[in-house]
Order: sequence, then structure tokens, then C-alpha cells
Amino acid sequence: MNALTPNRPAAPAPVGLLAELTHRCPLRCPYCSNPLELDRRSGELDTATWQRVLKEASALGVLHVHLSGGEPTARNDIVDITKTCADLGLYSNLITSGVGGALSKLQALYDVGLDHVQLSVQGVDAQNAEKIGGLKNAQPQKFEFAAKVVELGLPLTLNSVIHRGNIHEVAGFIDLAVKMGAKRLEVAHTQYYGWAYVNRAALMPNKAQVDESIRIVEAARERLKGQLVIDLVVPDYYAKYPKACAGGWGRKLMNVTPQGKVLPCHAAETIPGLEFWNVTDHSLSEIWHDSPAFTAYRGTDWMKEPCRSCDRREKDWGGCRCQALALAGDAAATDPACSLSPLHAKVRALAVEEAAENPPDYVYRTIGSNVRSPLKEEVHS
Ligand code: SF4
Ligand code: FES
Repeated sequence: MNALTPNRPAAPAPVGLLAELTHRCPLRCPYCSNPLELDRRSGELDTATWQRVLKEASALGVLHVHLSGGEPTARNDIVDITKTCADLGLYSNLITSGVGGALSKLQALYDVGLDHVQLSVQGVDAQNAEKIGGLKNAQPQKFEFAAKVVELGLPLTLNSVIHRGNIHEVAGFIDLAVKMGAKRLEVAHTQYYGWAYVNRAALMPNKAQVDESIRIVEAARERLKGQLVIDLVVPDYYAKYPKACAGGWGRKLMNVTPQGKVLPCHAAETIPGLEFWNVTDHSLSEIWHDSPAFTAYRGTDWMKEPCRSCDRREKDWGGCRCQALALAGDAAATDPACSLSPLHAKVRALAVEEAAENPPDYVYRTIGSNVRSPLKEEVHS
């Protein structure tokens, strides 16, 4: 039941649920969008609670469930959870690193009705890939995993997060996707949240590199029409307009953390003062329609200028709230990735400056690391 409060914008049903089943992961990617404070195994939701959440998601109108993490196959109950998706008619997408226990569980996941696999690849050259992912011998495991996915007849998407450490390999990623038999490739320039924000100077490419990567993708799209679909996510800091982050706040997606907090996007916890409800206390429907976090930036009423009077406000919904907070110091500000933001020129200059410097070492993603953002500059100060 949609319990709308007067003046509160109506919420269409969410399309997708990102189920962050665990933050445990054998890889340690420095661009990970998970929070710096990662949830520990002892606090993870149990199987029955996840199954109840999936049931509530289905009743709410969710169509796609992204089984993610961390590494979702690190959970012993991943097959049961996937089966619940299938029983409920939810389209299940396993977002995996393909290492650790992923291969040993794949047949069982297929048998219970897994619909799709999205496999991350950190690089093309094995040495480079394993340096980025922080795990030796990961590359052969990924290749073996991908071969098994294709052998089973499951649709395979490769996800490559692009940054200055692998941007020279964009053409290689495309060749790799074709060789592996993937149906889709995501060439996703790093979005700077979570660990990626901490590592921004180590990851930021320069504008010429970005332009060249776009040119390579566009040429490949033409060449591989009908064979491989390539999705391109351009880097915010060099963009003209921001993306509609998470499809717009509280419009399409719900993100459930390993401990059951429900977020409108993966970085929402960085915004101070927001109250996140937990699936152990509230139904998903209550959370979607009425929780303070989901209603905070839904619609357009909260917008300030220039978004408030901009004709793109219902296209990109003002960009990313978390990025606005990080860069402008105000989650309700126009995302500084937008060229209409008064801070845009500073943000662009920051990217240019960082890309020109020698990259610092990666700060690898680790549970219990006490890492805090080391960035000193704030463009709003
Ligand atoms: Fe989008 Fe706001 Fe920029 Fe307009 S001003 S393009 S609504 S971010
Ligand atoms: Fe939170 Fe973009 S990551 S709104």
C-alpha cells in the first residue's frame, strides 16, 4: 500500500534491488564503490531474512535482483537465495569476481535458475589485472569461470572499470569480451565514491586518454554490431552533464547492505543526517515509500538553482547527491559534474591536475582498515 503523505512526490515501483549479500571479497580493488567501513560477516543478514526481503521486493514490483557484494558467492547460502529469486519470478543477475568459490557454485546456481552473470575484469594483461585487483592468480580463475558460464549457455556480461591504470587496455577489453563469448561489455569509467574517492589521484585518467577510449568504443560498436553490445559510462569529472545517479534518487533502485540497511544508492551513507531504515525493523514497502532517506531527495522539490529551473531536471535529477556532498559540501547542491554548476570548472581543474601528477600507490579495499579519505582539497572551500 502506498502511504503517501501530502506534498510528497509519488514513488513509482522500484525496478531493481541491489542485494549486497556480503562485503567479504577475495579481491581488493582500489576503485570499489563499497563504503570505507565495510560490514563484517558476523553482522550479515541470515538466509531467511534475505528470502523475506526478496518476497517483499517482488510484491513491491521489483523485476531485477542484482546479487552483489563484495563477492556474493562467498556466502554459503547463495544457491538458496538465487533459488528464491527464481521461485518468485525475479530476474537474477550474479555480479561476481569469478574467483574464490564462484566456479564451484556455478553449476548449482544455474540449476536453480540463475538468469545472468556479470563478471568483473580488472585488466587484460594478467600482471596488470592482478595488481589492480590485489590478488595473485586471479586472471586464470576468471577465464575458467567465464568459459563455464558460456558453456552453460548463461548470458555473460564483462564489467571493466576503467581508470589510468588500465585505460590503455580498452581495445584489449573489447577483444577479450569477444574471445570469451560475452554478449555485453561494460566499459565503465570509474565513479569516484567509496574507495575510488580515496584513490582518486591514483585512478584519474587525463582528458586525451578518456577521449581516445570513447573513440575506440564507438568504432568497436560499429564493427561488432549484432555480436557484442558495449555500454559506456563516461567519467563524471570530464562530462558536460551528470548522469541520473541510480536512475534518480528513490526512483528505480533499492540497495540493501549486508546488515540490512536500505539505501537509495551505494554511497548514501556518506550523507550526514540521513536516517536509513533496516529490513529487520520495516518492510521494504514502508522503506521505499516512507523512510526519511528515500523521501529526502525524491522528485524535484528539494532542488536549488540552477537545477530547480533547469529543463534537464527530470532527465538527470540533478546528478549525484553523494558527489554533490563530497565536492560541494551540500548534498542538495547541483552535482559539480554538471557544467552548469558554479563549481564545475574547479572540479575539472582538479581532475586535470591529478591526472598530470605521478599516481600515488593504491589504497586497497580492506575490511577493518580504518582508512579515512585522505583528500585535503575540497572544491567548495
Ligand atoms: Fe542536471 Fe541540474 Fe545540471 Fe540541469 S543544472 S543539467 S538539472 S545537474
Ligand atoms: Fe549516491 Fe550518486 S552515489 S546519489
